Amino acid sequence: MISIHVNASKEYDVILKAGVLSEAGTLIREDLSRRRGTAGILRSRRICVVTDETVADLYGGPQQTLISSLRSAGFEVSRFVFPGGEDHKNMATIGRLLDHLTENRFSRSDLLVALGGGITGDVTGFAAAIYLRGIDFVQIPTTLLAAVDSSVGGKTGVNLPAGKNLAGAFWQPNLVLFDPAVLTTLTQDLLLDGMAEILKAGFIADSTAIYAALMVPGDSEEDAAEGAQESSSAPLYSFLRMGPAGPRPPIFDHPEEMMRLIAKAIDIKRAIVEEDERETGRRKLLNLGHTVGHAIEKCSDYGISHGAAVAMGTSIIARAGQNLGWVREGYGDDICAILQYFGYDLHCPYPAFALADVAYNDKKIQGNRITLVIPEYPGHSVLKDVPALDLEHIIAQGL
Ligand SMILES: NC(=O)c1ccc[n+]([C@@H]2O[C@H](COP(=O)([O-])OP(=O)(O)OC[C@H]3O[C@@H](n4cnc5c(N)ncnc54)[C@H](O)[C@@H]3O)[C@@H](O)[C@H]2O)c1
Repeated sequence: MISIHVNASKEYDVILKAGVLSEAGTLIREDLSRRRGTAGILRSRRICVVTDETVADLYGGPQQTLISSLRSAGFEVSRFVFPGGEDHKNMATIGRLLDHLTENRFSRSDLLVALGGGITGDVTGFAAAIYLRGIDFVQIPTTLLAAVDSSVGGKTGVNLPAGKNLAGAFWQPNLVLFDPAVLTTLTQDLLLDGMAEILKAGFIADSTAIYAALMVPGDSEEDAAEGAQESSSAPLYSFLRMGPAGPRPPIFDHPEEMMRLIAKAIDIKRAIVEEDERETGRRKLLNLGHTVGHAIEKCSDYGISHGAAVAMGTSIIARAGQNLGWVREGYGDDICAILQYFGYDLHCPYPAFALADVAYNDKKIQGNRITLVIPEYPGHSVLKDVPALDLEHIIAQGL
């Protein structure tokens, strides 16, 4: 078991443990009793498990481990199942979920459980933030992306017709429970979506995460640390020039290494969130590749997944930064080589003007400036404020 304590406006634990779904009821009860004392916990009877149709079939059935565990711990459990997908991460779904809560007489001492990927987590967290002006919720991520990124840090929200995540709230969970067994039912594309966020964390703050991701069986943590130190001088990551890993990156088939890597990525995010929970400064670094990535997702009408778009967006900004002298010479190419090693398609099918046009409407534009995240050198990224009108030219440098 690995436990990571997040010390944000609300303190909570992220517990990574094989089989943790079967302990969810007990862990939630214990957490509630620590927070509210015995009297408070007696009032807390209802849990609504929010999940999408796919995950409901896999892990959220009435007879399955999670719901049995919640019932055994004395909770009255209802389910809210929605179709899932970006098209349903919207205010209509929030409205239906809030109606479900009122129809089932949820009070402020009851709670929500998000069982699913980033979409389920974002929808559930936002509903929890606004129902009765805020009730508790627990994250049970079932995608790699949700485990390493969206379930930690308290960003919740939904899409509006004008763009992604335009309505939302900062609302931290009480607890995050991750069972690595859920990774076994993910397609390789979904694993790659999560890996894009792990690599992002490494590019931002800790190059040992990149080495851990690239590690082949038999490598030790020391090898990874040594590799990371070497990477601070040229030639960077030069062994990657050997080309892609093949049909499947080796790390995906090594559960223990994978678990350590997931914990490392969560810990990188934890440190950033603790420093800047409301994203007034350093937390913006977590948007590496996202300004262009969101534009790619929108241009594709969400046909290109979040992780694939983030990988594409990261490669565009890395190449552009290198061409403009903002990224250490050669490092932009290294980033692309790392992404290609994992098998990401870095060919962006949209022209710079189309991407810039979508990004202008993005929430990150403040006045006529936009903040970009630039990966300067291994394990270190910086924020760069540029005129919004320069965006098309900058993107064109990276295509
Ligand atoms: N709040 C944040 O900080 C934050 C951070 C990053 C991304 N996000 C958001 O997360 C979303 C993307 O998350 P996602 O990729 O997890 O999307 P998702 O929730 O749509 O999950 C992807 C697909 O995987 C399926 N699925 C989930 N778990 C599964 C499992 N164990 N086995 C098989 N299939 C499974 C889902 O049904 C869905 O079809 C985006 O909307 C993005 O904006 C939020």
